[in-house]
Amino acid sequence: MNKLFVSLLLTLGISGLAHAAGDAAAGQGKIAMCSACHNADGNSMVPNFPKLAGQGERYLLKQMRDIKSGDRPVVEMTGMLDAMSEQDLADISAWYASQKGTIGAADPALVERGEALYQGGKIVDGMPACTGCHSPNGEGLDLAVYPKLNGQHSAYITKQLTDFREGDRTNDGDAMIMRSIAAKLSNKDIKALSSYINGLN
Ligand code: HEC
Ligand code: HEC
Repeated sequence: MNKLFVSLLLTLGISGLAHAAGDAAAGQGKIAMCSACHNADGNSMVPNFPKLAGQGERYLLKQMRDIKSGDRPVVEMTGMLDAMSEQDLADISAWYASQKGTIGAADPALVERGEALYQGGKIVDGMPACTGCHSPNGEGLDLAVYPKLNGQHSAYITKQLTDFREGDRTNDGDAMIMRSIAAKLSNKDIKALSSYINGLN
């Protein structure tokens, strides 16, 4: 690694670089109880259950650690990760990351508002565009643990943005990146963004 790359990583605040490498094939054998909600390939069919297919490996691992520790309470998953080792979580992350995520369709009536917010932010309120971290096509940037959003269920996105805004999801770090962004979003903004993101690719 050259010095520039190292300092870039430090700037981005990358941690946990030394975690065990995940084995996707092994992970596939460890998700039997997850598939009821997230589906065998991670493309959940239920709007409240997030799609995990194609999501970034680091992001998946971080969320599972947070869910396991209680930093991100998910009642539907209570106790499910307790018996899992770091290696199990790494393997499962590798499996879902290796799958291809499906894309939905945006409501044509909401596209204009959703696109303007996603691609341009809200300049007057000092809210940055989503593109800066989640990228213009919604692929995210897993090196910096910025999640992929494109194709995700609208109902799930709406719940996350509302939870960040209301302080019900607080695992976005000390910088409170998503809590401060969601604080600038109205319910109508959230609805438009959620629909737009579902159809983004
Ligand atoms: C009973 C349904 C259910 C089961 C079974 C389940 N989950 Fe979940 N999972 C959820 C729900 C609901 C959420 C989102 C909660 C919220 O709204 O914040 C979630 C969130 C997640 C997330 C975070 C996704 C993101 O985009 O941030 C990951 C990763 C995850 N689950 C992995 C797993 C794994 C691995 C298993 C099996 C060990 C599992 N889940 C079993 C319902 C379930
Ligand atoms: C400065 C970087 C940054 C910007 C700008 C940003 N986000 Fe995020 N976003 C993040 C990070 C980091 C996370 C993951 C937090 C965590 O670890 O739980 C995240 C998480 C999310 C999640 C939860 C994903 C999931 O699978 O649960 C949603 C939804 C989201 N962002 C939507 C948006 C939208 C919509 C915008 C624009 C209005 C936006 N973000 C702007 C950095 C950013």
